[in-house]
Amino acid sequence: MANDLTVFVSQLLRNPREISAVFPSSRVLAAAMAEEVGPETGRVIEFGPGTGKITRAILDRGVAPRDLTLFEMNPEFSRLLKDTFHGVRVVNAPAQEAATEAPGVGAVISGLPLLSMPPAIQIAILRAAFAVLRPGGVYVQFTYGPRPPVPETLARRLKLTVGAGPVVWQNLPPARVYHYRRDGDVCATSH
Ligand SMILES: C[S@@+](CC[C@H](N)C(=O)[O-])C[C@H]1O[C@@H](n2cnc3c(N)ncnc32)[C@H](O)[C@@H]1O
Repeated sequence: MANDLTVFVSQLLRNPREISAVFPSSRVLAAAMAEEVGPETGRVIEFGPGTGKITRAILDRGVAPRDLTLFEMNPEFSRLLKDTFHGVRVVNAPAQEAATEAPGVGAVISGLPLLSMPPAIQIAILRAAFAVLRPGGVYVQFTYGPRPPVPETLARRLKLTVGAGPVVWQNLPPARVYHYRRDGDVCATSH
């Protein structure tokens, strides 16, 4: 774990804009991000896994490694993830490229700093997620700020319904987890 933190800090110093967090997510935040997935969810995609705190929580929920795909843009983190999570597919590419994955995904779990990204990238990332999510599939995103992580105008434009979880105080800084689904979809995600 000390090694993970060293890699995180060294990458933070090199790529502060892409990482946009002072520490990796805490175990409590990671568990909150993964609470809607389980073995019945089927395929799960994680965006921006970094050193893999949320990845570990997703696997702890019973998602099979072969059902999990990670999109991580940073090559150093991608190498660490490949070495740590055997059987999990690691794609060293931007999350926007997930649009080319086969559809039918049960959940997209995002640790990306969405709100600090330019609007065109936010839209590309959300479009990619909802292009592959099956009806009822969920997009999970945390944020540190007081506002939802998907700007309201964008959520309306993409016809997304949002649900907010409680603030996770056991994280530095405290964070809140949000669940997004397409309006009118039947809720098919387990748990
Ligand atoms: C705030 S860190 C979160 C790391 C981890 N999910 C956590 O919660 O501890 C953001 C991560 O997103 C990655 N990232 C940033 N932009 C990305 C993009 N467009 N596609 C994929 N990964 C990206 C960064 O390299 C970094 O690993």
